[in-house]
Amino acid sequence: MNKFELGIPVVDLQHQKYFTMVDDFAANLGEESSDIETILKEIKTYAVAHFRTEEKLMAKYNYPHLDVHIRLHEEFKIKIEEYQGRLKGDNPPKKNELMSFLRLWMRTHVLQVDRQYADILRYRMRKAS
Ligand SMILES: [Fe+2]
Ligand SMILES: [Fe+2]
Repeated sequence: MNKFELGIPVVDLQHQKYFTMVDDFAANLGEESSDIETILKEIKTYAVAHFRTEEKLMAKYNYPHLDVHIRLHEEFKIKIEEYQGRLKGDNPPKKNELMSFLRLWMRTHVLQVDRQYADILRYRMRKAS
């Protein structure tokens, strides 16, 4: 198990897919704002769907800090929307700046925030099965 794995397969798969998407984006994309916009939209859609998966799981197993966790997901969405706004303006973000943000935010979130619910949920899921 690598340090990003939380032991909840559906969540681990989605995290993996997210990081793969970002890596592909880093490797294959140029600096064209319209291309970056398209990919960013795709990543945002994927991330938001992933957040819904987690939020549903946390609700199902009565995770006590669901509200705070939802707020953090919202903050990420708002930051992406800020980048989307900038891509249309005079000071568009560089691909690498965006990449670093997308990687770093999710890494930190998985390691520090997702890990908290995962420990509790794994326990409650085992008990329920
Ligand atoms: Fe997550
Ligand atoms: Fe999360």
